[in-house]
Amino acid sequence: MYVVFVVALTCLGVWVDAVNNGLARTPPMGWMSWQRYRCITDCVQQPDNCISESLFKRMADRLVSDGYKDVGYEYINIDDCWPLKDRDAEGKIVPDPTRFPSGMADLAKYMHSKGLKLGIYGDFGTLTCGGYPGSKFYMDVDAQTFADWGIDSLKLDGCYTNPDDYATGYPLMEFFLNKTGRPILYSCSWPAYVKDPDYKTIADNCNIWRNYGDIQDSWDSVKSIIGFYGDDTDNFTKFAGPGNFNDPDMIILGNFGLSYDQQRVQMAMWAVMASPLLMSNNLDDIRPETKDLLLNKNLIAINQDPLGIQGTRKSQTGNIEIWSRPLSPVGKFAIAILNLGEAGCAAIVNTTLSYIGLTNQGGYKVTEGFTGAVVGTFSLSDHFVSNVNPSGIQLYVASPN
Ligand code: GLA
Repeated sequence: MYVVFVVALTCLGVWVDAVNNGLARTPPMGWMSWQRYRCITDCVQQPDNCISESLFKRMADRLVSDGYKDVGYEYINIDDCWPLKDRDAEGKIVPDPTRFPSGMADLAKYMHSKGLKLGIYGDFGTLTCGGYPGSKFYMDVDAQTFADWGIDSLKLDGCYTNPDDYATGYPLMEFFLNKTGRPILYSCSWPAYVKDPDYKTIADNCNIWRNYGDIQDSWDSVKSIIGFYGDDTDNFTKFAGPGNFNDPDMIILGNFGLSYDQQRVQMAMWAVMASPLLMSNNLDDIRPETKDLLLNKNLIAINQDPLGIQGTRKSQTGNIEIWSRPLSPVGKFAIAILNLGEAGCAAIVNTTLSYIGLTNQGGYKVTEGFTGAVVGTFSLSDHFVSNVNPSGIQLYVASPN
């Protein structure tokens, strides 16, 4: 049905095939429900954890009161399991009235009154991954409904559809989002569902896109994502830039699965990989040292660097990986030295800036990436020695002399 519609639009010459909403000039930052709160819908048994307006309002209040908003976290994103299982008589999707008694327009107003933005979740197929109504055959009405509610971001998942349809359907939703006239950040799960994704077309149509499996609350999961991004087999890294970012999935700091060093790894690597920083945790219960990492302005400055260039893995020797990310002003770099090993002692990594790929003949002034403390001045061939804890990271910023 929608294929016919695409052809009609193309013939009329009004087809808009580019994401032209001006959003995500740097990786979006905020909070998202899925990893921590999943599809908990029983508010009687789990009043504090169920997917409900009170959960999203509570997390919004925390973003503001605990300083997250001040450092850039602004989206509160609802993931799966928010609507009723059936559409209404007009074909519109309906938020579950027992869990969202005030309705979505009211919730969006609440977020906007606090200077925040509200994101919502849909699916390109007939059902969402959790079995709620999907947008297939309803894209126009869903885009308009979301815009009417005042929604600011849409994650469009890709369950329950025919793989041949992605290349038509995802751009079609972008067309309908544009048609509403409301700037809505568009997050596509498209590449995660197809073989050999056409990243050029994906970047033309989506602001951010998931390209790998779901993050779980574990170090293994974080490691496998970093491995996928390091391998960059489909050459997706080069499509990152203002307006377009690869999305390796949510930040899990504050949950159960990561040690302190592993939390440092996720934050630092998501900064180097120019990744969206969408926390999925309980902001009512975050340990101080974790909160410090989530609020770390030096890490966030790397993540939000205006050039939007995604860092790459420069070397891989046993368990040691070296990554770098070009920063502004041109010539400056973030450098991450990652120890994926699990031997009890720290690895001593002895390298040079030249080996890492830096080229300024006058050398570099290097600061520590988490604290900004001065490490020293290094020529390209000076020994650059780093002690890296097991499943840990050292992060630096190098500015040309
Ligand atoms: C998929 C997505 C997840 C989450 C769930 C919801 O698995 O990749 O991020 O949105 O669906 O059902």
